[in-house]
Amino acid sequence: MCGIVGYIGNQNSQGILVEGLKKLEYRGYDSAGIAVFTQEGLQVVKAKGRLANLESKLEEHPLAGSAGIGHTRWATHGKPSDANSHPHTDNSQKFSVVHNGIVENYLELKEELMAGGAHFTSETDTEVISHLIAREYEGDIVKAVQKAITYMRGAFALGVLTEYEPDKLVAVRQASPLIIGIGEGENFIGSDIPALLKYTRNVYILNDGEMAVLTRDAVELMTIEGNFIAREMITVDWDAVTAEKAGYEHFMLKEIHEQPRAYRDTMLGRVNAEGNKVILPELSLTEEQIKNIRNIQIVACGTAYHAGLVGRTMIESLVRIPVENDVASEYRYRSPIVSPETLVIVVSQSGETADTLAALREAQANGAHVLAITNVVGSSIAREANDVLVTLAGPEIAVASTKAYTSQLIALALFSLYLAEVRGTQTAEQVAHILAAMQALPEQVETILAQKDAIKTYAEQISDNKHLFFIGRGVDYAVATEGSLKLKEISYIHSEAYAAGELKHGTLALIEDGIPVIALATQEAVLEKTVSNIKEVKARGAEVLAITHEEHVTDLLKSVDQAFVIPKTLPLLTPTLSVVTLQLLAYYTSLALGHDVDKPRNLAKSVTVE
Ligand code: M6R
Repeated sequence: MCGIVGYIGNQNSQGILVEGLKKLEYRGYDSAGIAVFTQEGLQVVKAKGRLANLESKLEEHPLAGSAGIGHTRWATHGKPSDANSHPHTDNSQKFSVVHNGIVENYLELKEELMAGGAHFTSETDTEVISHLIAREYEGDIVKAVQKAITYMRGAFALGVLTEYEPDKLVAVRQASPLIIGIGEGENFIGSDIPALLKYTRNVYILNDGEMAVLTRDAVELMTIEGNFIAREMITVDWDAVTAEKAGYEHFMLKEIHEQPRAYRDTMLGRVNAEGNKVILPELSLTEEQIKNIRNIQIVACGTAYHAGLVGRTMIESLVRIPVENDVASEYRYRSPIVSPETLVIVVSQSGETADTLAALREAQANGAHVLAITNVVGSSIAREANDVLVTLAGPEIAVASTKAYTSQLIALALFSLYLAEVRGTQTAEQVAHILAAMQALPEQVETILAQKDAIKTYAEQISDNKHLFFIGRGVDYAVATEGSLKLKEISYIHSEAYAAGELKHGTLALIEDGIPVIALATQEAVLEKTVSNIKEVKARGAEVLAITHEEHVTDLLKSVDQAFVIPKTLPLLTPTLSVVTLQLLAYYTSLALGHDVDKPRNLAKSVTVE
């Protein structure tokens, strides 16, 4: 899970490559490097650590030239080090490669290449690619790349340069994302749109098994077998500012604040003028297919999985279809029971998560119809699913997912209502009632954002704790799982989410004096039960913070130490509000501890390896 950029044009490429890499750091950031055609030939500079380290090296050894490739790495094979950083070259130093993905059979290829005299300088799987291309080169770089990849198994996006043909940049996509940017007298490659936005909005999205040959004035697209293909150019309407921090200290904070807009955008054009019907013309699912659905499986990873937990309650209560939730990495290996009457919903912000993509393929292979809920149009998951419901959260840069999660909740609510309409499980009045509540959510989020100073103060209080619990019932429990993940991933504080009624079956033993317990108490139907569970932890010394509605605060404050209020909405929609408090809590805790909020240790934004 790395980031690739490439440039061929008339400008000095170093700055363009480094700028592009900055926009891709969310994909990996344990080392970075660039290769540029200079007057002295193909030259490489690379550095372990953050991009700033590469920039310092480049200040000392600038690379002047108008074609180059760059890479930001998230280690899979071989530790983060200068030697393992990309670009990788062959022994003649005439071929240079950047790679995202994994070459599964690299050990066997390495042995073969070493037997043929290749000398390896890194522990990476990628280095075999540069040696392979060098071995296969007979005067035509395109043919050499095509030949080399016939030996490779696995997932790869590649950018390739050779000193023998300095007017060409070759790009390949096989199960790892890659886009081609089109400029005037210059062309680009990138793993993702933000890398190119500063320079062009016109892109081609490569499909698996395709490649591109870029020169300064042209781009040829072809299959990896060499058959030329025509592709419509896409004009990206994200502006560069959308992908920047817009004045916030961190992307995460900016993205938390973008949620009202993301809710509105995700609903935009999907509700009829009367406000009593969901319209989803983008779906190919017929009424008959919807009426025949017997069960639904929601499959995803991490935060997207947590969105699916809420989606399950939405669908089950509004449509009465049984729903199972699955972690994608488990689903693909558990021989899921799927029939043509099973609808599988895969949820993925990036649309590139390897486990989710594999689960999608598993479901399709078993005959299921797959609906993808994703934030990235043109992503692998979007392209392979039978149907796609796009969340319109805009690019999410911070590793910790916030606006993508809440947009997934909005999309799941819309889809549940759509199913309910078709199956007649909710009347038009009931649908209108829920839709009206959804339209009010963006403004309600603003009132939570306005409490950020109080949340910050609480975050500072809890930041020296080593352990913490989140509890709740029903959708409050689902939100607890997300609140806990958010806190863990950016503050590194151990926390657990528990169904409030389950604590007494073992985990209560961990509750001791002063341990913070965050109790979500928004579900009226089970409020008394939740209060009993709060009393259980209080009696063992816990310091309890409740998240609840105004009308319950006075009563709850008899049992808890502090409370944050969220605006009143329908029970099923409370996760779209309560989670915002928890996102801010995680953010300010991380900030109080001085961590790198947007790029937490050991994690990457898009997990394109198994
Ligand atoms: O791009 P995806 O939604 O498929 O990513 C799934 C998870 O890797 C992701 O949600 C992860 O858990 C987040 N970084 C958590 O904030």
